[in-house]
Amino acid sequence: MQERKNRGPSPESLAAQGGYEGDGETGAVVPPVHAATTFRRAEDYGPPPQGDYLRNASPTGSHVEELLARLEGAEAGLVFASGMAAATAVVMSLRPGDHLLMQDPLYWGFRGWAVDFCRDWGIELETVDATDPEDVAGKIRPGRTKLVWIETPGNPVMQVVDIAALAGLAHQAGARLAVDSTMATPVLQRPLELGADIVMHSATKYLNGHSDVLAGALLTRQQDEVWQRIERHRSQAGATLGPFEAWLLHRGLRTLFVRVRQASATAAWLADRLAEHPGVEAVLYPGRPEHPQHKLARRQMPEGFGAMMSLLVNGSEQQAVEVVRNCRLFVPATSLGSTESLIEHRPTIEGTDSPIPRNLIRLSIGLEDRQDLLDDLDQALRQAVG
Ligand SMILES: Cc1ncc(COP(=O)(O)O)c(C=O)c1O
Repeated sequence: MQERKNRGPSPESLAAQGGYEGDGETGAVVPPVHAATTFRRAEDYGPPPQGDYLRNASPTGSHVEELLARLEGAEAGLVFASGMAAATAVVMSLRPGDHLLMQDPLYWGFRGWAVDFCRDWGIELETVDATDPEDVAGKIRPGRTKLVWIETPGNPVMQVVDIAALAGLAHQAGARLAVDSTMATPVLQRPLELGADIVMHSATKYLNGHSDVLAGALLTRQQDEVWQRIERHRSQAGATLGPFEAWLLHRGLRTLFVRVRQASATAAWLADRLAEHPGVEAVLYPGRPEHPQHKLARRQMPEGFGAMMSLLVNGSEQQAVEVVRNCRLFVPATSLGSTESLIEHRPTIEGTDSPIPRNLIRLSIGLEDRQDLLDDLDQALRQAVG
């Protein structure tokens, strides 16, 4: 057996044990839920060691933050009440007059919020095709661009962005690079190692993994002035994650590696079969050789391409909706990253002004038997498209 030199436990081992070294008093191998909102001060009236008030710091949340920081190779982490609470905290660290360069398309909910917020608060928002470093180089403004925001793989067309290239461009201009890595998770992609400054997750998705917690997370390469602003914002605005949610998230993280690897392998298998299906015009999946950033994806996500994909149905918008309605095993619901496979007609969710193709359906592949999933999609496509 090959010896592992100079290494602590691998991220997989850390996650499996929750990064928790046990409770000295009881020997418990799982951390408790500390539901208290307030904490007794010391005899000399000094502050309590883990924080005085739940909105500022949560002992249960800090277990998750430490574990996530170790999984992402971060100096520190913060958990939030939702993915949007985490993402918006980063943008709210900007000041009026700053320039924000944002990938488009990306998660529709974040884009909509950012457009309104930046317009109202004097932040100049510009969108960019982040898959094209030349477009980014042309739009970035040295000294004025303070943040470049990307999402990779991106929602819902699954574009892959070169994190290292964009980190280089951002840093040359004096900006920070933030990466929404929700779809990849630290199992498949570690943006901080590629030069990103902040990683963001909707922990509602794979990190928790069971469709029963709303949460978000930020991880940072360094605890600089921007990070302190973000931390202050979380406390003051009350975007903190509740202790019960934090506990569930910590539990979900124990099985992260096995869930993501299994779902990703099933997704790759399904993508290859669906690419041959007469009811499918195109499969949008970074693992497919015809994907425009397939080579980059192989380099950036060497362990797998994730468990999200979109299909362009070989038919009209109405037929795409029919496919979703015909499914019996896939659950017709929004969101992603859970044990159950989900399917949705994304343009219905995003509305009539969404730029995505009207025949696009998005799949989040879960942990069911892969042949069952294929059979379900096959019957749904045949009924709708023939
Ligand atoms: C890629 C991505 N980022 C951020 C979010 C927002 O996260 P939340 O719903 O936890 O606020 C979502 C939600 O769907 C998402 O898919």
